[in-house]
Amino acid sequence: MQIVEEPEEDRARAREAFAIEVKNLRREYVTRSFFGKASRVTEALAGVSFDVKRGELFGLIGPNGAGKTTTIKILTTVLTPTSGSAFVLGYDVKKDIYKIRKRIGIVFGGERGLYNRVTAVENMKYFSDLYGVDPATSRKRIPELIRLVGLEGRENEKVEKYSRGMKQRLHIAKALVNDPELVFLDEPTIGLDPAGARDIREMVREMEKWGKTILLTTHYMFEADELCKRIAVISKGKIVAMDSPSGLKKLVKDISVVELQTYGATQSFVDKLKSIEGVIRVVAELESERQFIKIQTPIAADVLTKVTQISDDGVKIIDKGIKEPTLEDAYLRLVEE
Ligand SMILES: Nc1ncnc2c1ncn2[C@@H]1O[C@H](COP(=O)(O)OP(=O)(O)O)[C@@H](O)[C@H]1O
Ligand SMILES: [Mg+2]
Repeated sequence: MQIVEEPEEDRARAREAFAIEVKNLRREYVTRSFFGKASRVTEALAGVSFDVKRGELFGLIGPNGAGKTTTIKILTTVLTPTSGSAFVLGYDVKKDIYKIRKRIGIVFGGERGLYNRVTAVENMKYFSDLYGVDPATSRKRIPELIRLVGLEGRENEKVEKYSRGMKQRLHIAKALVNDPELVFLDEPTIGLDPAGARDIREMVREMEKWGKTILLTTHYMFEADELCKRIAVISKGKIVAMDSPSGLKKLVKDISVVELQTYGATQSFVDKLKSIEGVIRVVAELESERQFIKIQTPIAADVLTKVTQISDDGVKIIDKGIKEPTLEDAYLRLVEE
């Protein structure tokens, strides 16, 4: 067998179409106990491959611990892969660290990464300087970004006075100081109230309009459905499906969802639902005073009739209905099966 080497130039040209190219990426974490010699190996990524086209808004979704943040850390050159390859904007994450860092923006969910004792503008100036943006450009760009994220009028207040939602908007502005081609958003709406989360989604759409490539992780399925053109579902370090939101929903086109709102439902009621013939899965939130229960089944009308016949002490059904499956239903099937 003859191995033909691709010339470097062809390879570079082939890469132009892609903002991200990941092949067979693996990452292990080795944790050693402090005293003993015992060490534990966690395989966070077990061979992940995907491409993101330039200008695409791509979603990476999966449960906690699936490997989303590890993937982002490797792509942003914060962490090295154990094996496999990853190219970002045509550059190798193992070699071209500074070329990549200059051209990307990163937003992590949560509180880290801003200086609380200084103003929003001072934060922005600091990060602009860090990225080597020339002062004339940043003088023009900072007010534009402040406006984009809706912080005008508050930009000269100390960040410690900001609400959680305002801080997250500032995070987005900060991630754009170097006018990156590619933006990583790792669970950007986590912990925000619904209005705050909606604002962030609006900004993500705005960035997409500007032509930025965006890699978004989230565990809110409706958010991925609303925003992403293509989604990779990751579970236990492996990609288990990759498609458009509507393509993923086709995986569950054979089922419908019976939705219930109840008072007083407990695990015993849920168990009774699970034992109804034709029920594939029951997802229940039992913590609050009212419970939201979703039942996946191919025979929704029959199941709904049987549900109303269940006698369970003290459970009151206050609302019921049959819905089309959502991305969340497809996702549950993918990550649980
Ligand atoms: N610094 C670390 N040391 C050891 N294990 C880690 C570390 N970071 C992540 N892990 C493990 O790697 C796996 C993937 O984690 P992560 O990429 O953070 O997942 P996600 O972002 O999808 O929740 C999990 O099992 C997690 O416990
Ligand atoms: Mg994470």
